[in-house]
Amino acid sequence: MAQTKKLVIGNWKLYIDSPKEAKELYRASQNAARAARRTHVVVCPQTPLLGLFASNVSSSIRLGAQDAFWDVEPKHTGASSVYALRSLGVSHVILGHSEMRAAGETSHLVSLKTQTVIKHGLTAVICVGENERDMRGGYLTTLESQIRESLTGITRPKLASVVIAYEPVWAIGKSADQAMTPSTLHETTLFIKKILVSMYGRKPGTAVRVLYGGSVESKNAASLMQEGTVDGFLVGHASVDAKEFKAIIASVDKA
Ligand code: PGA
Repeated sequence: MAQTKKLVIGNWKLYIDSPKEAKELYRASQNAARAARRTHVVVCPQTPLLGLFASNVSSSIRLGAQDAFWDVEPKHTGASSVYALRSLGVSHVILGHSEMRAAGETSHLVSLKTQTVIKHGLTAVICVGENERDMRGGYLTTLESQIRESLTGITRPKLASVVIAYEPVWAIGKSADQAMTPSTLHETTLFIKKILVSMYGRKPGTAVRVLYGGSVESKNAASLMQEGTVDGFLVGHASVDAKEFKAIIASVDKA
């Protein structure tokens, strides 16, 4: 996937349970993706549904998983290995989502998963984001340590397989008017890029794609894209509404 293209990832979470619904949504998302010229589209169904699309991954739409196990050792129960995901055509894996972090996932674990995912040729979509914004700027420290710790062990040549998804927890699962404002997003994107530059140097650091996630809808997609200086979005609830998702993809493609 060319690093310069914009990226929209649909995180279906557990919104879609049935194969029938999943197939319909995938088809609609694929049509929307085909119309995009400068934007890559990835959709992430829950793991049991991934196999439905194994033979239908194309250059217009890619398949993502919502997690992957950090080890390739078979003696683990209840996880999904990178081998299995890869054999189903998965190219992207969401890691460290706040809903996983809330259930105990640490940045250390995210870094192990990131290393495994990249080692096996997949792209890691690393989610970071503060729970709340405090007046004293403690959220910046949270953000910085999540980025640094999650990227432990990731060397410069592997950076092309990393996407950072900035998802402030307080803005997730709401409506467009409760999402982050474009100007605040712009400031935060600069802060994230600054950390990446300090870790990897100017060129490699600024080349990492940074997405925004948290109540992206068709209403706010264009302004977040234009003023927020992000490379695309990680979309939750609006990605399971075919019309909304199509409109978001179109806004990103136009920006
Ligand atoms: P949301 O979810 O778009 O429903 O806020 C985003 C996410 O959690 O990835």
